Amino acid sequence: LRQSIEQAMGNTMGGAGIPRTAIEAALSVTETELQRLRDEEASGKLALLALPDETGDFEAIEKTARALRDGASDVVFLGTGGSSLGGQTLAQLADYMVPGLGRLADGPRIHFFDNLDPATFGRGLEALPLATTRFVAISKSGSTGETLMQTMAVMRALSDAGLKIGEHVFGLSEPRKENTRNALRDLLEPEGAPFLEHHTGIGGRYSALTNVGLLPAAVMGLDIAAIRRGAASVYAPIRAGELPARDIPVANGAALMTAAALEGKAVCVTMAYADRLERFTRWWVQLWAESLGKDGKGSQPVAAIGPVDQHSQLQLYLAGPNDKIFTVITTDCAGKGPKIDAALAEKAGEPGFAGKTIGDLVAAQGRATADTLAHNHRPTRTIHVDRLDEEHLGALMMHFMLETILTGYALGIDPFDQPAVEEGKVLAKQYLVEGAGA
Ligand code: PA5
Repeated sequence: LRQSIEQAMGNTMGGAGIPRTAIEAALSVTETELQRLRDEEASGKLALLALPDETGDFEAIEKTARALRDGASDVVFLGTGGSSLGGQTLAQLADYMVPGLGRLADGPRIHFFDNLDPATFGRGLEALPLATTRFVAISKSGSTGETLMQTMAVMRALSDAGLKIGEHVFGLSEPRKENTRNALRDLLEPEGAPFLEHHTGIGGRYSALTNVGLLPAAVMGLDIAAIRRGAASVYAPIRAGELPARDIPVANGAALMTAAALEGKAVCVTMAYADRLERFTRWWVQLWAESLGKDGKGSQPVAAIGPVDQHSQLQLYLAGPNDKIFTVITTDCAGKGPKIDAALAEKAGEPGFAGKTIGDLVAAQGRATADTLAHNHRPTRTIHVDRLDEEHLGALMMHFMLETILTGYALGIDPFDQPAVEEGKVLAKQYLVEGAGA
């Protein structure tokens, strides 16, 4: 990953950018927070930091992935929030949901049922050939209402079709804890459903590099070792402790985001120039919002995809309120895709398009968006992904996880809990039971 925050730092004309002094101040706070990360790794408090170097769980993940794929026409992942978005992000790298592709040549169709809408869930379930479909119910707590509802609906459908639940459903949840119910295990274990264990020390939205994200990735045929290797490369310079914060890309990023928050930038936009990063942007929105929106602090994350959102959001970004900071993600798309015929380019009055590819245009647009934002005094950084593959996606995800954690630490926010959403969960259950949902 190459990161350029020069635009954001240099662009202080008219007070619209982030002043260099603010970034310098944030960098020195981040320096301290890097030591905190090292201490937390050493004490085992932050399991996420040791995870990228682990390989001990690969065999179980690959074995389950093979069991899911073998003879299956469809594999459905049930779960929501952090129990789904990381898997979706990784699976999208292997063309999941890319228009016109959608299914691996020699593998099953992959589905993620993460939202709960009676129309889509009901229709989706009805359309599945149950006899050749496998389901994976993922819930760290084992108590999330949406996932339990989905699982129970699937169990009913399998029973009605005369199929054995234990042969079609896999579970992924934390080990049982004393005095705490795990409803997912209570439902599935008596049916003989096999379980993988959710890492106890890693919360939902940080779980993409555990079996929660790597199992869907392995089912899609991705190289899970390369994903972890990429992630490890982001933490390695922090662990080594030899470089100052200003020479570590993720520390730079965190300092920029911290300074932006302190300078009153209320909106944080990530615009990726690749369809295969669409789920990544949604995964990041959850990571940022749920981790940092606390105690009246935090900024609004917005996901955008280029070039399509140039025709939707860019006008506001360039000429609306200057309350945002932008991350433009570009990839190795130059030279890729269909090539434009010289005669047609001539006919269209665009001779300069001759011999250029679709990817050339996307690359040019990503660069143009970043530069236009900067010229309009909007603080902007570009992150360039040299190759959109497992290793680089693993690195990108680790970069954004560490950037979120470091920004939270610097702003005095605990990035790991989500107390505010609990009230709604309790109320929804109460209304459901009372029949007051209508
Ligand atoms: O990041 C989080 O902690 C949440 O988004 C959870 O992942 C989400 O609420 C699902 O929780 P669970 O995995 O316990 O079903």
